[in-house]
Amino acid sequence: MCGIVGYIGDKRAQEILTSGLRRLEYRGYDSAGIATLNGQGDITLLRKKGKVAELDLAIEKNETGDAVGIGHTRWATHGEPSERNAHPHTVGDITLVHNGIIENYKDLKSVLEDRKYTFQSDTDSEVLAALIDSIYQSQDEKELLGAVAEALDLAVGAYGIAVLTPKQPDQIIVARKGSPLLLGVDEGEVYIGSDASAILGHTDQIIYLKDGEIGRCSRDGVELFDINAQPVEPIIEKLEMDLHAIQKKGYDHFLLKEINEQADTLRSTLAGRINHSEGSVQLGGPGLSSDELRDLKNIIIVGCGTAYYAGQLASYYIEQLTTDVAIQVEIASELRYRSFNVSEHSVALIVSQSGETADTLACLQELKRRGVRTIGVVNAVGSTIAREVDSGIYLHVGAEISVASTKAFTSQVAAMVLFGITIAQAKGTSPQLIQEFIDEIIQLPEQISAVIKTHSGDIKQFASKYKSYEHSLFVGRDTLFPVALEGALKLKEISYIQAEGYASGELKHGPIALIDDRFFEVALLADNWLYDKSASNIAEVNSRGGHILTVTNTTKEVDSESLLRIDTKLEHMLPLLFNVTLQLFAYYVALERGNDVDQPRNLAKSVTVE
Ligand code: M6R
Repeated sequence: MCGIVGYIGDKRAQEILTSGLRRLEYRGYDSAGIATLNGQGDITLLRKKGKVAELDLAIEKNETGDAVGIGHTRWATHGEPSERNAHPHTVGDITLVHNGIIENYKDLKSVLEDRKYTFQSDTDSEVLAALIDSIYQSQDEKELLGAVAEALDLAVGAYGIAVLTPKQPDQIIVARKGSPLLLGVDEGEVYIGSDASAILGHTDQIIYLKDGEIGRCSRDGVELFDINAQPVEPIIEKLEMDLHAIQKKGYDHFLLKEINEQADTLRSTLAGRINHSEGSVQLGGPGLSSDELRDLKNIIIVGCGTAYYAGQLASYYIEQLTTDVAIQVEIASELRYRSFNVSEHSVALIVSQSGETADTLACLQELKRRGVRTIGVVNAVGSTIAREVDSGIYLHVGAEISVASTKAFTSQVAAMVLFGITIAQAKGTSPQLIQEFIDEIIQLPEQISAVIKTHSGDIKQFASKYKSYEHSLFVGRDTLFPVALEGALKLKEISYIQAEGYASGELKHGPIALIDDRFFEVALLADNWLYDKSASNIAEVNSRGGHILTVTNTTKEVDSESLLRIDTKLEHMLPLLFNVTLQLFAYYVALERGNDVDQPRNLAKSVTVE
């Protein structure tokens, strides 16, 4: 949530900051701003409501050659999206950008008002800037790092910050607690970013700030201090990502690119983990011994949004692959405040594309505190969750830029299926069943490509047909139920059509009352042992005049207003194939409605606040 950039060196900061902000825009795009500083201590502050493109226009009129600066792209929490609430915030001698939430900002604000501070914005961040300034002004010998550290001691909440002052124009102070921040270092310069994409292309030498750390960035490098103000030696790691990964590669939108590259990204998830001829899976990451896998009795899967739905789908598979493992799939924002119980021989799968989702991270920390072994199912290498879990399975799908998650879902499910197979192997599940799963998952990338190639045209037409409805219902049974939920989420978040996912059998317990001419239904119909039951649900909707788009693999006749027939032999992995069609459907509907498909309103890619 929100993106931070910063730079100190000898290059033109405005250019570096705005190009970084453009790459971070997926984290929030309510407003954007930068502050740059010259050697004489003059600050140029530019802020605009809306996207970075608005800021570019302001910069054209206020170009500077300053080589020090900080910038921010905002996803509003406290205070409406407006120029007044945009970062950076300047109070007295302090200019700051902040990600996260200062929870006690109201208390701090009233103390500061007593000290005659007045506030221009509604943000908690401006209060933090004022707090730092009040401490800074009270120092006999001005020392920015000390003032920031003292202020952060008083602040309750989460933050990633970058702070500068014209009084000490040769440094930027950075700190993090619960909100990611990393530093790129090179000869005579330091880059600051809330994720690696802001730094990509400038340097591959990265320092990941840890929670509680505070740092001074200057042209001489980075000095780091821990929570007790003790110096710590920065650990420099190599950034394993290239610029190519964050480019559209000829597609109109990142979303379409990410849907289309799923065959390849899924191959990367599977690579080196399956021995097809032996019918076995080896996962190095989780680090559980065969005995631990055999004795496993309970799995808690935690995630938010699409990651949560991936967990739901994976739970069906792991249940099929084992006979004595109980699985609970939890929405992170709920679990973190529940007084839940964990039994012995439990492990937790912590599912997150970004590896930064605040609620998921909080669950991870709580589960660890209770002694549960935590295993990350994470895409973003080096992210907070990836660092804090006991062990993990990386997805390796590359950067996912579009706010709507697509390729990550497919690979999250696949990674958890592989984990399920490793448990099944240890527990002595029938090799035939394991082989069936392996055979199917290996075929899946090619089948995904074929479905996209064969059906994009039809799906586009269906999108045009249903684009004007304002309400929709997605239904599926068994493994197609989580896909119905995910399909509905995809449609609603980018098309703004109300879309609800339901288990088909639940229709007559309420939702069927919704059916009328403003409403369409997407029915997921597998030609399996549940076919007749799902077909009956379709008939029930038909007989009430419903408008149905059925996605199916059957060759039987289906009574449905629209029909998308997928020709495939896959059974277990069928839901992942159907899901790709729903991703495309959501994309084309959103496109038809003229929406910004990559940056839908009110959303952000990485949700680092509760
Ligand atoms: O980065 P994460 O996987 O932890 O993100 C979780 C959700 O915020 C995310 O899946 C969200 O629901 C997507 N916008 C859905 O497309």
